[in-house]
Amino acid sequence: MTELTSNKQATLDQIEAATSLDTLEEQRVAALGKKGWVSLALKTLGQMNPDERKEAAPAIQAVRAEVAGAIDAKKVQLESAALEAQLANETIDLTLPGPDLPQGSIHPVSQVMDELAEIFADLGFAVATGPEIEDDWHNFTALNMDESHPARAMHDTFYFPDAAADGGKMLLRTHTSPVQIRSMKEQGAPIRIIAPGRVYRSDSDATHTPMFHQVEGLVIDRDIHLGHLKWTLETFFKAFFEREDITLRLRPSYFPFTEPSVEFDVGYANEGDRRVVGGHGDDEGHDWMELGGSGMVNRRVLEFAGVDPDEYQGFAFGLGIDRIAMLKYGMNDLRAFFDGDPRWLSHYGFSPYDQPTLSAGVGARS
Ligand code: PHE
Repeated sequence: MTELTSNKQATLDQIEAATSLDTLEEQRVAALGKKGWVSLALKTLGQMNPDERKEAAPAIQAVRAEVAGAIDAKKVQLESAALEAQLANETIDLTLPGPDLPQGSIHPVSQVMDELAEIFADLGFAVATGPEIEDDWHNFTALNMDESHPARAMHDTFYFPDAAADGGKMLLRTHTSPVQIRSMKEQGAPIRIIAPGRVYRSDSDATHTPMFHQVEGLVIDRDIHLGHLKWTLETFFKAFFEREDITLRLRPSYFPFTEPSVEFDVGYANEGDRRVVGGHGDDEGHDWMELGGSGMVNRRVLEFAGVDPDEYQGFAFGLGIDRIAMLKYGMNDLRAFFDGDPRWLSHYGFSPYDQPTLSAGVGARS
């Protein structure tokens, strides 16, 4: 016991005298480390008889607590002294020139894709991807467009000269819908994904470029109906355009992979040479703009993707990312998106520091 007390006093004195974190650490190891004297004292408990142990154990534990407490207190003291010293020594020369402003900017398409992902993540959608070089089966056949289907002709497809390993044709995907097939095959149902990405069609004018961007949406679960589709689109567009007065018009349409199929338009007003979303398309000074296609996923597509259509059903939609970017941020020529002109980018691009978040607003300010 007396040895314990004298050891304790010596250690406390040393801790008090420590001038650096290193010497303090040495003291900690010497006392509380595996072979430290406190630890060795604790080990002697094993050889004692119960009466001795009853008396010794609390005494040793008390010493341990006291030493550990002293070390912690000293540590805080040494650390704040070190910080004080650093603050006293360090100086910043405020006359030095600042770093160059960042030259790069985020392309509006990337910005809008980030905004989309943020909004749909909040609705419980995961982001899925698929290859841009696609095979004929995923792009067409599994989407209920067999070899002879006339809808294939509408897609102005870029084909590769070489066939795939299975003899089928390879192509640049004409829409993001093949990601529906890939995702269902991989994950099965239920599923809730969006798939943004590049798509290709042999087409070019002020509103069409051979490469453009789409986002696909797919929800498969039990008891999903058209009402869910309408709500999802409306909720998305309100969040995306950051206004409540968004009116959607759903029109009956046809896609081989959905049944029934609907195209959706949004009401907008012409303000000067700019189109501003909002309001009812039939109102004075307003019109409708088509934004994309959608519908209830065709049973045949679910079968191709290995999902049981008697148990599961759902909706899919595809919409043009470039088009909603133009509407939101006021560009009027699609071709400029892909010219890579730094003047256009510095005018329409976004700050890399301006990440879209639902809480701070998904719309960029720059
Ligand atoms: N893939 C269609 C297109 O590119 C859009 C679409 C997607 C339609 C999903 C219905 C369902 O035109």
